[in-house]
Amino acid sequence: MANNDDQFKKVISHAKEYGYVFQSSEVYDGLSAVYDYAQNGVELKKNIRDYWWKAMVQMNENIVGIDAAIFMHPTTWKASGHVDAFNDPLIDNKDSKKRYRADVLIEDYCAKIEAKIEKEVKKAEKRFGDAFNKDEFISTNGRVLGYQEKINTILSRMGKSLENEDLADVKALIEELEIADPLSGSKNWTDVKQFNLMFGTKLGASADSAMDLYLRPETAQGIFVNFLNVQKTGRMKIPFGIAQTGKAFRNEIVARQFIFRMREFEQMEMQFFIKPGTQTEWFKYWKEHRLKWHLSLGLGEDNYRFHDHEKLAHYADAATDIEFKFPFGFKELEGIHSRTDFDLKQHEEHSGKKLQYFDHEVNESYTPYVLETSIGLDRMFLAVFSNSLVEEELENNTTRTVLKLPAVLAPVKAAILPLVRKDEALVKLSKEIIEDLKWDFSVAYDEKDAVGRRYRRQDANGTPFCITVDGESLEDNTVTIRHRDTMEQQRVKIEDLKSIIKKEVDVKEWLMRM
Ligand code: GAP
Repeated sequence: MANNDDQFKKVISHAKEYGYVFQSSEVYDGLSAVYDYAQNGVELKKNIRDYWWKAMVQMNENIVGIDAAIFMHPTTWKASGHVDAFNDPLIDNKDSKKRYRADVLIEDYCAKIEAKIEKEVKKAEKRFGDAFNKDEFISTNGRVLGYQEKINTILSRMGKSLENEDLADVKALIEELEIADPLSGSKNWTDVKQFNLMFGTKLGASADSAMDLYLRPETAQGIFVNFLNVQKTGRMKIPFGIAQTGKAFRNEIVARQFIFRMREFEQMEMQFFIKPGTQTEWFKYWKEHRLKWHLSLGLGEDNYRFHDHEKLAHYADAATDIEFKFPFGFKELEGIHSRTDFDLKQHEEHSGKKLQYFDHEVNESYTPYVLETSIGLDRMFLAVFSNSLVEEELENNTTRTVLKLPAVLAPVKAAILPLVRKDEALVKLSKEIIEDLKWDFSVAYDEKDAVGRRYRRQDANGTPFCITVDGESLEDNTVTIRHRDTMEQQRVKIEDLKSIIKKEVDVKEWLMRM
């Protein structure tokens, strides 16, 4: 596809055209950074959530799930540090009156330098052909090393300034780099200010007695405050985990990358409670384990990388991001954080209740340490969807648009197509096949247009199989099954359809690759 911007635009319009993602309240011209999942999107999202839940909860006997409420006692957010420290550094452009995240302006500047590195790599790849060694080139080429050093210097200075709350230096950095407003080109900036990202609301009927609440900005705190309830009622022994999926809300300022950064989004989080002192080994374990989960979906090893944090959040003693190559570059997809005992200790202090674990093995009580894995479901959706959308040149000089979703995640597993829609016997047999398959798979019926057009429609929809019912089917109970990615067609018995499809879409088959 032409370039990254074009590819991203195609992703967004394809998501709308094929019923995956709509702008929220579109009839009222939409609500910024809020999206609705449509008939196919809701299925893809559910399948990703299930794939995560099965890998994290069902496959681990020491991990259980909960579903905590979105509203929590307001002291939760004081204890967690969100009231005081869940801020973004903002800067306004005085001419355009547009507001930006200062750190994002700087990161975008660095992304442009990174694009230059990629360009150098591509050029060298062309020049050296098969003899090209990318790692060696990156670590020795003078120009690339210069670019990389520039990025490191900028990001390290920004990290330090943010950590020290030195917002004047963040502004100075923007000015020194001569960063302009991406819309107007103006470099006329205000000072940088902190802005809290939580959405506030009220609980209660009258203005006097109403209690200030927040919409949760992460699901994790619902797990921390339930730690002891789950441990006791589930008789859980350390190490053990509590997993949860659910909505989180953040008043994001820079919200321009479709479902990458939303104001209402869904997280899939797991807190793993461990003995203090074992966090380094568990950090390593979950880092590797979560990457394996991603790789099992086959989106391409080169599309992932770790980004270890230099600047750590107030609660963490180690942190890394699993970054994914989105159409707009490598960005955070999942965070893995070693959160120490910060959260449990904070909730103990603010609630006055003990949140400790009695370890029978060592005969003592302690506050467990926590290893967290936290992934945005919507971001995972975007990673899968954008990576799967391809345009293929065919032998007869035509192109086809295919959504090569991993079959295990595809919203519709098979479409059943009677060859001729007016032939009642074919329609009847098609419907019988659907009646049988729908107990195991989500299937669709498609009778409109010539069969070739129907194949293309299902390709673009991401459906891994098309099953065509024709005259021969009535005589010998066979059908044609067409595979989306290879376009290969096979004549198979109707009674074998279930096992053929199952082999390709079964969660077990996919998770076994981990
Ligand atoms: N409990 C830890 C936590 O919330 P985070 O890095 O702020 O950590 C975790 O968020 C994940 O949630 C991110 O890696 C990202 O995938 C997702 N996420 C965060 N903010 C988001 C937003 N505004 N829109 C969509 N996904 C978001």
